[in-house]
Amino acid sequence: MKLAVIGTGYVGLVSGACLADAGNHVTCIDIDGEKIARLQAGEVPIFEPGLERIVQRTQARERLFFTTDLAEGIRHATVVMIAVGTPQDEDGSADLAAVEVVARQIAQAATDAKLVVTKSTVPVGTADRVRRILEAHSDLAHRVASNPEFLKEGDAVNDFTRPDRIILGVEDEQSREELEALYEPFNRKERRTLTMGVRSAEMTKYAANGMLATRISFMNEMARLCDEVGADIEEIRFGIGSDSRIGPAFLYAGCGYGGSCFPKDVKALAHTGRRHGVPLRLLEATDQVNQEQRRILIRKVHDVLGADLRGKTLAVWGLAFKAKTDDMREAPALYCIPAFLEAGARVQAHDPVAMDNARKELPAGVHYAQGAYDALEGADALVIFTDWSDYRAPDLERIKSSLKAAIIIDGRNLYSPQKMGRMGFRYHCIGRPS
Ligand SMILES: NC(=O)c1ccc[n+]([C@@H]2O[C@H](COP(=O)([O-])OP(=O)(O)OC[C@H]3O[C@@H](n4cnc5c(N)ncnc54)[C@H](O)[C@@H]3O)[C@@H](O)[C@H]2O)c1
Repeated sequence: MKLAVIGTGYVGLVSGACLADAGNHVTCIDIDGEKIARLQAGEVPIFEPGLERIVQRTQARERLFFTTDLAEGIRHATVVMIAVGTPQDEDGSADLAAVEVVARQIAQAATDAKLVVTKSTVPVGTADRVRRILEAHSDLAHRVASNPEFLKEGDAVNDFTRPDRIILGVEDEQSREELEALYEPFNRKERRTLTMGVRSAEMTKYAANGMLATRISFMNEMARLCDEVGADIEEIRFGIGSDSRIGPAFLYAGCGYGGSCFPKDVKALAHTGRRHGVPLRLLEATDQVNQEQRRILIRKVHDVLGADLRGKTLAVWGLAFKAKTDDMREAPALYCIPAFLEAGARVQAHDPVAMDNARKELPAGVHYAQGAYDALEGADALVIFTDWSDYRAPDLERIKSSLKAAIIIDGRNLYSPQKMGRMGFRYHCIGRPS
């Protein structure tokens, strides 16, 4: 099949490359000329394990192409996927400006009827909006469908090629057949495609992210109570996760969820609820708990080191919003590190892959260390924001001898409080007795 994917970010690039790997002819389009030039040279501009190999392989086999020219990129495509960003608008709703611009450009450039598929996360009713834009700017009989993406950064290739499910929102038989055929290679082992109405597909994506985010905020609230009553959230996690009705995933207490999806999708769904007169109180609370939780390490640092951090040095391990990604969007570190600097601290940070992106987002005063242990030199405490595997089994003796005082404030509950206590650390984590 001949495809065009508009928007070559985490979703567009992974989708385009994996669909090309499955035998399709794919053109990825983006307005970012520098990104496209790097991709044309076989260089993947994001950190995503396994992706570069697929991009280079499919380029070499002449099945994956990159361009900034939308008209040229969609010319031969029968299916055009929209995978541009849908960031949070000022009122919490999803900003659909890029989706609408692209829909108009498709209508103006297309010389034959296309199946236009929204892959971006978009509020209920967006496919209808896209259809109206196509109809307003073209006489061709374009069709629209919804195919929300569920991949996780850090494991995106695996998620795309072996998804839990593929959601197709369609309104006509031809679109259903075309999309089911497109995803057939990913259904060989088990049937993963769920076909439904367009509005249900659009809602499914938000409902999934809303549910996952709610589980995290629920555990974070339980952890706050654990801190007060002397219970251990990790024991509770196992205790409830072993119940097959609950399951173990997304039950980790920590310094809050971040990233390009949960924060904005929770807000956007809550906004949709308000707009339709159905307040989504659980989701509003999920968001509120998370906003507080993202700053919890600030309070814990002040509890240990005092309100005035002048003359103090903090080592920071992990900047990205989660492990295995260089994505800094809505990362808890972005909220806490500026507060540490404002309170007078010197910050020495390390992240295995996100430091280049962090430099663009964090104030200039942050010092970036070459290695994880370099960040510790002369610091008064270590603060952990990200659960990178590099930090999970460190040389504790080396940490102790590098730090001025053996203090760790861990936003990801990476270590055993008992063991840390035995080794002479003052170890503060989330919802566990220290
Ligand atoms: N990142 C994830 O883990 C993830 C997972 C599932 C769904 N989503 C959703 O997918 C969508 C894309 O997310 P992302 O993380 O890939 O975003 P991203 O910011 O990484 O990529 C978006 C790309 O779109 C390009 N773009 C913007 N306007 C354009 C235009 N007019 N024409 C062509 N290109 C344009 C940008 O230059 C950028 O490269 C969002 O709706 C997001 O919510 C993201």
